[in-house]
Amino acid sequence: MSKQKKRIAIFISGRGSNMTVIAQNVASGILQNCCEIVLVFSNKHEAKGLATAQEMGLPTHCIPSRGKKRIRFDQSVVNYLQTHHTDLDYIVLAGYMRILSKPFIEHFKGRIINIHPADTQAHKGLHAYDWAYEFGLKNTKITVHYVDEGMDTGQIIAQSVVDLQGVQSLEEVEKRGLAVEHQFYSQVLKQVFEAS
Ligand code: GRF
Repeated sequence: MSKQKKRIAIFISGRGSNMTVIAQNVASGILQNCCEIVLVFSNKHEAKGLATAQEMGLPTHCIPSRGKKRIRFDQSVVNYLQTHHTDLDYIVLAGYMRILSKPFIEHFKGRIINIHPADTQAHKGLHAYDWAYEFGLKNTKITVHYVDEGMDTGQIIAQSVVDLQGVQSLEEVEKRGLAVEHQFYSQVLKQVFEAS
């Protein structure tokens, strides 16, 4: 097992609550000894998580994706990373609302990880908590997986169950799900980083 800390970039597009918990765990929690955050990247200037990352003293960068073709935008992100973060080990997606292009995936093959708020074999794409609520599921799953070219189709690393018994609203589903996400993502990242 390598003792060297993994250098990670966290990609976000919005609220950034998973990023925040990961950053807290890197600062003084279970991720302290296994990784460092070299970048919080966003494709949206207005992402709330970007401001949070800055307040936490993390290095941030934004390249707006609006109006840009996927391949071109992704190439500009790869160019940025190649220039400024040549020794990046992993890209951790945390609410990054874009499908990555083939060249981007190839560039970081096997080193891009995502969290999805459902069992990816049962529900891919957006609105996973709405789906669980509308179908009245007794439980749902959080999936952490490697990223490939598809939408939530990459190899599953680990899953955790969210108990939904007795939930009365979509807000309650989201609250229970996020509580699991926040704990689980860091635990799985720790396992991956320590094993590589
Ligand atoms: C989370 O539910 C995550 O699983 C999904 O997008 C949401 C992001 O939330 N991929 P946040 O930005 O981390 O608060």
